[in-house]
Amino acid sequence: MEVTPLIDIEIISASNSKINSVDFENLTFGNVFTDHMLICDFKEGSWQKPVIQPYAPFTIDPSAKVFHYGQAIFEGMKAYKDEEDAVWLFRPEENFQRFNKSATRMAMPEVTESIFMGGLKKLLQIDQQWVKKGIGNTLYIRPFMIATGHGVIAAPSQEYRFMIILSPARSYYSGEVKVIVAEHFSRAANGGIGAAKAAGNYSAQFYPTKLANDKGFQQIIWTDDATHTKLEEAGTMNVFFRINDTLYTAPTSERILDGVTRKSVIELAQREQINIEVRPILVEELIAAAKNGSLKEIFGAGTAAVINPIVGFSYQENYFELPQLEHSMAIDIKEKLTNIQHKLAEDTFGWTVKV
Ligand code: COI
Repeated sequence: MEVTPLIDIEIISASNSKINSVDFENLTFGNVFTDHMLICDFKEGSWQKPVIQPYAPFTIDPSAKVFHYGQAIFEGMKAYKDEEDAVWLFRPEENFQRFNKSATRMAMPEVTESIFMGGLKKLLQIDQQWVKKGIGNTLYIRPFMIATGHGVIAAPSQEYRFMIILSPARSYYSGEVKVIVAEHFSRAANGGIGAAKAAGNYSAQFYPTKLANDKGFQQIIWTDDATHTKLEEAGTMNVFFRINDTLYTAPTSERILDGVTRKSVIELAQREQINIEVRPILVEELIAAAKNGSLKEIFGAGTAAVINPIVGFSYQENYFELPQLEHSMAIDIKEKLTNIQHKLAEDTFGWTVKV
């Protein structure tokens, strides 16, 4: 499969590339950006001609609604380079569809496939030397949309800016991840925006996560807002639990993001004939399994972190350490997934798309 081309696009090339100043072996996630970015404005009811231009700051009116009401959405995707120097995307259609679902939920205009996919393809072609070969090297892609319309009246903006920026990335977490199971704070509620990749969903996590950080934990396992009895997500990732040899993950809902990595893990597990159950998982089941020794693994799944094992969790001030295993399902599934993404294993699912 190949990416849809974009018909009409203005290109302003950077006069110098920053690439030689970047230490690709020592990247902090999301800190370095490539030479170019894509911008496409929405005005008077339609999308204007997209422009690819040198990566740089830009100005927006201080009254723009993104600053006051947080009308902003984003996506997270990755590009990979194979041994023949071809650049590949992983299930990009899923991100495109989800971006437009998020747009609808936030009363923003949908972006056309030609702008989203065609613009991304062109941008990746221009900055392709930033995608490095080899497992562990990726180019993180951040498409986003902000409300640029001026005026502080609390109503949807009439103007928007869609952008794509690119950031070379290795791992998201640099050390072990320990989590606290949420007993008071919530990430999302029924009828809210939890299933959308809305900027506010992430900033709402910052304060409870900071409190967890202060206690020595990196992330929070979010529970349902009404009863705090169901395990839903881990930090910015979907979450999986392995009890004995069965994997469990919560079903998507209005509160849970329909993660591309999550659904790929489910499909991979099914292919590998690993027992997997998609159903609500109760905090009390987790505690019982931790106490009787049947809880083997917990891991988060997301585009940025891929699959991230969790080494322990705290609930009601009691800390439970996960066992160190010789054969970890998380590691095994991660290897199978990243081999497909990097074109080192056959893609029997048709997930990879050539740029
Ligand atoms: C991703 O995994 O791509 C996300 O969107 C999470 C983000 C906070 C890095």
